[in-house]
Amino acid sequence: MKDTEAIRQAAQIIRQGGIVAFPTETVYGLGADTYNPLAVARIFEVKRRPYFDPLIVHVAYPAHVKKLVKEIPSSVEKLAEKLWPGPLTVVLLKEKNIPDIVTAGLPSVAVRMPDHPTALSLIEESKCPIAAPSANPFGYLSPTTAEHVREQLGDQVDLILDGGPCAVGVESTIVSFLDGKPRLLRPGGVSLEQIESVIGEVQITPIQEDRPSAPGMFPRHYAPRTPIVLDWNEKNRDLYKSRNIGLLAFREPKGNLKFHSVEVLSKKGDMREAAANLFSAIRRLDTLNLDLIVAEPIPEVGLGRAIMDRLRHASSRGE
Ligand code: TXA
Ligand code: MG
Repeated sequence: MKDTEAIRQAAQIIRQGGIVAFPTETVYGLGADTYNPLAVARIFEVKRRPYFDPLIVHVAYPAHVKKLVKEIPSSVEKLAEKLWPGPLTVVLLKEKNIPDIVTAGLPSVAVRMPDHPTALSLIEESKCPIAAPSANPFGYLSPTTAEHVREQLGDQVDLILDGGPCAVGVESTIVSFLDGKPRLLRPGGVSLEQIESVIGEVQITPIQEDRPSAPGMFPRHYAPRTPIVLDWNEKNRDLYKSRNIGLLAFREPKGNLKFHSVEVLSKKGDMREAAANLFSAIRRLDTLNLDLIVAEPIPEVGLGRAIMDRLRHASSRGE
């Protein structure tokens, strides 16, 4: 099927109340018509996602945000101008007509304009903003290829649009504008540094184990089946003598390593490349029946903040 034909068919499915998996620059989303609560409910069902975890609404034009929110602060206008389309989600007070199921009953809504031609055409042809979480079962890693979606949700969605591997590879950065000062709810594909260069200081909410900063930010999230550890110490080696341990390395490791399997995120140590490879690399390790995945910590600057955030969530034992 040609791309344009597939998109047309997908848009028709969305307009008729179906659900479609589609590529974005960050990860694949599972979308429905924002204004169709039954269609949105099916997304929650298929993902087994708790209803208190709200969705992101995707638009094809910055101007369309006006219909979704009460007011657009000038800082959001500036960000939209500089960073949209792109991996930035803003949280603003919502208009009344957005169904509660989309926002989990919150008075706010999360909105973004994705930087992917397929996503943008799909939204445009559907003639409605598309509410979409990442297209993975709740709590598991987000998909960065159509194949990932097929493997986990294949028979439960009406159509999967294949746009190849996602260029960014980690989810969007979420910034809330609800209380005066902008606040980072989730680090992601646009760095905090980039955002601050446009609007000045952004408050950072630390990860709290008991109270998620964004409703969906549970301690254990983005998790593979195999346990991940971040604080590996070679002294532990004896304890794991007869075990199969995989290494998720940031850059090409030096020396001979005694790991069963090694995934290198970026040979040269490039953050962008590392982010783009992150979820696929973890998925590959997760298929090897390892007893443990050791993840190498990386510097928490730029995209490194999002990568470390995902690794921390993936390694958290809390459920
Ligand atoms: O890159 C992305 O953001 C991808 C692509 C598909 O756009 N989407 C994505 O969606 O990661 P999801 O549902 O996996 O994560 C959305 C996050 C959740 O943690 C949710 O709690 C938060 O956004 N969120 C949504 N609406 C919110 C709101 N009104 N206030 C605070 N957080 C909100
Ligand atoms: Mg998700």
